[in-house]
Amino acid sequence: MDKIVVQGGRKLKGEVRISGAKNAVLPLMAAALLTEEPSQIENVPNLQDVQTMIKLLRVLGAKVHYSDHILEVKPGRDLKLVAPYHLVSTMRASFCVLGSMLARLGEAKVSLPGGCIIGPRPIDLHLKGLEGLGSTISIEHGYVVARAKNGLCGSDIFLGGKFGSSVLATANVLMAATLARGTTYIENAACEPELVDLANFLIKMGANIKGHGSHLIEIKGVRKLRGARHTVISDRIEAGTFMVAGAMVKGSDVLVRDCCPEHIMAVIDKLSQAGIAIKKGRTTVRVRRNGTLKTLDITTLPYPGFPTDLQAQMMALTTVAPGISVITEKIYPDRFIHVSELNRMGCKIFLEGASAIIHGVVRLSGAPVMASDLRASAALILAGLAAEGTTEVRRVYHLDRGYEQIEKKLSSLGAVIRREKE
Ligand code: EPZ
Repeated sequence: MDKIVVQGGRKLKGEVRISGAKNAVLPLMAAALLTEEPSQIENVPNLQDVQTMIKLLRVLGAKVHYSDHILEVKPGRDLKLVAPYHLVSTMRASFCVLGSMLARLGEAKVSLPGGCIIGPRPIDLHLKGLEGLGSTISIEHGYVVARAKNGLCGSDIFLGGKFGSSVLATANVLMAATLARGTTYIENAACEPELVDLANFLIKMGANIKGHGSHLIEIKGVRKLRGARHTVISDRIEAGTFMVAGAMVKGSDVLVRDCCPEHIMAVIDKLSQAGIAIKKGRTTVRVRRNGTLKTLDITTLPYPGFPTDLQAQMMALTTVAPGISVITEKIYPDRFIHVSELNRMGCKIFLEGASAIIHGVVRLSGAPVMASDLRASAALILAGLAAEGTTEVRRVYHLDRGYEQIEKKLSSLGAVIRREKE
């Protein structure tokens, strides 16, 4: 297993290019199964999760070719009915094939997704939505078995859960409804940019969708979809991570390129409150840190609120803002595994329910730490950038699921960082 070793205290300077969005491309790959015709997806990041999804599409019978960030999916006529445990259990986004397989084949058997370190990840909203479209669903031997022998039927579906809307449940129902008879309204739909990207791809495939990007989506079912060509939006979470990187050390000046500033307004707002100078361009954000950081009060919320996927990275920043910051998690109340590791680096964070109370320090001290999930791994690397001495972030395999060459991108900005075998 690899570890990332960071020598802290270096100012970051220069430009970094943001890759295509992981959480957009994975549902797009599932959507490509809705037709037998080939589709081409561009700006696809080379990530472990993309490789896992490629394996799943191949197991389902599609031909897939991936090189130079371009992905070609040829689903063909005969798709298999079963998405197996060994692939779906490793990555929750693969559960998205349920909606597309059910719509295309009238039947699907998809393994229940695995457990997750960031807390419980139920699927009740996915199932409620697909049942609302007229399918019958049962759980058999660890698999979700969905059947709609006479096809799916458009319907009014309310997708609100205990923690608000659900991104991937909306994606599953949206995909299934494109081929249902009649009109579907998804109320309390998620409106994350990744879902808008999915809807735009489906529209290119011939789907009739309105209202994507709002909480009410209207889908008029069509008989068939065709193959399409699409470029994935840039990754707002990667962009946010590099913006935080540019804020960790005084004197840093980082230009984040090929991003969508309008997708990261909540992050821009919080960094500005922390005293970071931000300059937005059309597809760039420049981040400059001059003085001491101010403390922050952050609550994670569905889009356009502050994203849970940047909570850990922002916590790393507040550890070097002298004084008390508070971060409240409203999406995954247990997503705080990184707290004990950040505490090993010399700051004091206390958990009080779903809130973390962070006593920021002037300087962190480098230490060996253990990465637990994807975003926590990124947060520990960010903390290492600002720490005195060496930080070793162990078990970083999660990192490769969602960040394309993060250590190369950081070293191009002047960070002293390398990957080593444990
Ligand atoms: C997506 O997961 C992302 N994953 C997650 O990113 C992200 O953290 C999450 O959305 C929230 O923004 C992908 O897009 C591949 P949800 P998803 O359903 O769709 C509850 C990362 O680091 N819920 O929107 O699975 C759920 O427990 C990952 O890149 C139900 O109650 O998340 C949570 O509290 C991690 N019932 C809330 O809804 C359900 O059936 C939002 O989760 C489904 C979800």
